Amino acid sequence: MPSAAELLAWYDRHRRILPWRAGPGEARDPYRVWLSEVMLQQTTVATVGPRYARFLARFPTVTALAAADWAEVAEEWAGLGYYARARNLHACAKAVAMRGSFPRDAAGLQDLPGIGRYTAAAVGAIAFDEPVLPVDGNVERVIARLKAVEEPLPGSKPRLVALAEGFMHDPAARARPGDFAQALFDLGATICTPRSPACGLCPWRGGCAAQRAGIAADLPRKTPK
Ligand code: ADE
Repeated sequence: MPSAAELLAWYDRHRRILPWRAGPGEARDPYRVWLSEVMLQQTTVATVGPRYARFLARFPTVTALAAADWAEVAEEWAGLGYYARARNLHACAKAVAMRGSFPRDAAGLQDLPGIGRYTAAAVGAIAFDEPVLPVDGNVERVIARLKAVEEPLPGSKPRLVALAEGFMHDPAARARPGDFAQALFDLGATICTPRSPACGLCPWRGGCAAQRAGIAADLPRKTPK
């Protein structure tokens, strides 16, 4: 059985240095975590990097973002696409400013405008070390392979989420929920990639059902549109 400890040990050696990642032991600001997660939803890591820094330079706090005019926010968002995201971002900043601070758990975060299950779990885990797991496409792929889930997406999604969340019973994952989530993101982005997974380098290769069956690159299957 693959363990959270094995994945975390790999992450400690190979974690990507990304602009929104606090170093070990550094304070994590929910505003920064939330902003990065919203930006990363439809935009690549490479594009988000410089835009994230620029956005923060202009709106350094959630209060500053809430106080800005929509035209300024839209201008700063230009080129990132999906303006609905920027609209939601602005609405959410206003709601947080009204409350005084970000809610400190996923349930409270999900009540804010534009924050769904994924973003609430990402901020809960990464900013507040709540034992929850944000499941994105990377995590779905890793779990589909690890457990050799043959059922295609999107139908298999609830099962993949349940299997992924099962890791939150592992004490090593519970001790470091934010790192565990980001370790899964990194594994999916650098080793357990969609087309040619580098199984030889994977910290979970010993326990991966798809690798054992020789079908890692074929999973997750997708229902044809
Ligand atoms: N994709 C979504 N969130 C991410 C994060 N925090 N780190 C790396 N990739 C991500």
